[in-house]
Amino acid sequence: MARKTDAAPLLDVENLTVRFAVKRGSGWGHKSYLYAVDDISFAVKRGETLAIVGESGSGKTTAALAIARLVNVYKGKVNLDGTDILHLEGENLRQARTKVQFIFQDPYSSLNPRLRAEAIVREPLDSLSNKSDKECKEIVNRLFKAVGLRPEQLRLFPHQFSGGQRQRIGIARALATQPELIICDEPVSALDVAVQAQILNLLRKLQTEFGLTYLFISHDLGVVQHMCDSIAVMYMGKIVEHANRLSLFNNPLHPYTAALLSAVPSVDKKRRESAKRILIPGDPPDPVNLPSGCRFANRCPVAQAQCSELEPDLKMVADGHRIACHLVDEDAKSPL
Ligand SMILES: Nc1ncnc2c1ncn2[C@@H]1O[C@H](COP(=O)(O)OP(=O)(O)OP(=O)(O)O)[C@@H](O)[C@H]1O
Ligand code: SF4
Ligand SMILES: [Mg+2]
Repeated sequence: MARKTDAAPLLDVENLTVRFAVKRGSGWGHKSYLYAVDDISFAVKRGETLAIVGESGSGKTTAALAIARLVNVYKGKVNLDGTDILHLEGENLRQARTKVQFIFQDPYSSLNPRLRAEAIVREPLDSLSNKSDKECKEIVNRLFKAVGLRPEQLRLFPHQFSGGQRQRIGIARALATQPELIICDEPVSALDVAVQAQILNLLRKLQTEFGLTYLFISHDLGVVQHMCDSIAVMYMGKIVEHANRLSLFNNPLHPYTAALLSAVPSVDKKRRESAKRILIPGDPPDPVNLPSGCRFANRCPVAQAQCSELEPDLKMVADGHRIACHLVDEDAKSPL
């Protein structure tokens, strides 16, 4: 096991690859594979937030499920707190599971409608910890308060709460086992804008209070702009750009990132007036029959002949800024 230091990342993902066998045509014995996550590597420091951003089908949820061992991994490594969690079994796996918890997108379908709020929050404690009944009750009471719910609401059922309150229950539940890493998969996409801000503020407060590390998944760069330390942009199973928040927002290098960013309304008036919306034409390619070369080439406004021949590697061009595009080199200038 690696030595744990403050400088070591809490989560270190190397060459993670997840593929699904898919049926195509009627031929016997012909298996095709969809590489939902294709050889991605990244690390998240303890107490920080990495946002994973990309449009529908880019592989965000599959990557998160793989990290929580909820889907089979084809290749790669997932180190959590210095332990390779993909090879754990039995008691060691149970221990590791307490350290990673999920907050899901839909607070309506992710809570069991037949359980009272207190039982929902307590459930992971009963299945993953050896705590006494008294300890469990105390933890649930504390968490209810921490997420801004009232003690008398403990006995209510999910349908008696609003969407935002339900997401608070989901957050309390995720915190029950005192996890270190919380995977937030589109945690505010199903909520009204005003409620979104409240939940994002709550997540930030809890991060400081409990020293949490977040993997924050969203299709919307606007949602993550006040929420993350760094951002990985995914397209068709690949990370195409990865940088710290300021670097990515001030100097987006990949044409896909630039297009996503151009859709985010800026709070800065000057920037808002000068900003041009970059539209991405066409559809993503068939994920089972990927083209050769850059996966973004059929939609890229600056694609060149070489782009369809050779797949660009994800390379480091400036301090911590990684980019997969043939037209970007060490000088880190946008090709747009
Ligand atoms: N169990 C599965 N079997 C086959 N294909 C799958 C499976 N789960 C996901 N996929 C495919 O893998 C790709 C990535 O899906 P994933 O759900 O990870 O994307 P996502 O980025 O989370 O999208 P969204 O924003 O819509 O949630 C998609 O092409 C999807 O159809
Ligand atoms: S490699 Fe070519 S097609 Fe791909 S993003 Fe860069 S310029 Fe566009
Ligand atoms: Mg998803």
